Amino acid sequence: QEVHAAEFEHTFIAIKPDGVQRGLIAEIISRFERKGFKLVGIKILTPSKEFAQKHYHDLTERPFFNGLCEFLSSGPVIAMVWEGQGVISYGRKLIGATDPQKSEPGTIRGDLAVVVGRNIIHGSDGPETAKNEINLWFKPEELVNYTGNSEKWIY
Ligand code: TYD
Repeated sequence: QEVHAAEFEHTFIAIKPDGVQRGLIAEIISRFERKGFKLVGIKILTPSKEFAQKHYHDLTERPFFNGLCEFLSSGPVIAMVWEGQGVISYGRKLIGATDPQKSEPGTIRGDLAVVVGRNIIHGSDGPETAKNEINLWFKPEELVNYTGNSEKWIY
């Protein structure tokens, strides 16, 4: 069992193919970065449909599952791990409600998306899913460590 200080909480965030295609990578990264969270892992890849099914394994019984997995695997995705105190729940706050019609203005989906099937971004919904999703998308050596570097870190 790993013990982490609160400020080393991690979440998995992905910019879905629609967000990448619409040129929203920098806009989305910027919102997490300006808030004060730290980017500890990032890559671009087109996941296979099988991989998308693993990522969304909790939703296999839902009617939209197949379309959702087809969509996630339809083009390049930005996969990221963000670090910071409260980053899992605050990340969800930055993202906004699942259905962009219900997301508040000021949130990523509220400001930038219109329909639930094209809601541009994914974020882990709790500590357990964050851990599982990070393990699915990243190898431990793909994540950086800012500790030991704190005197050099500019806030
Ligand atoms: P979910 O995990 O419920 O939402 P969130 O992404 O906010 O954690 O659903 C996963 C994705 O499935 C969601 O981002 C968009 C898609 N989806 C649909 O296409 N139709 C739906 O009715 C729902 C609930 C989700």
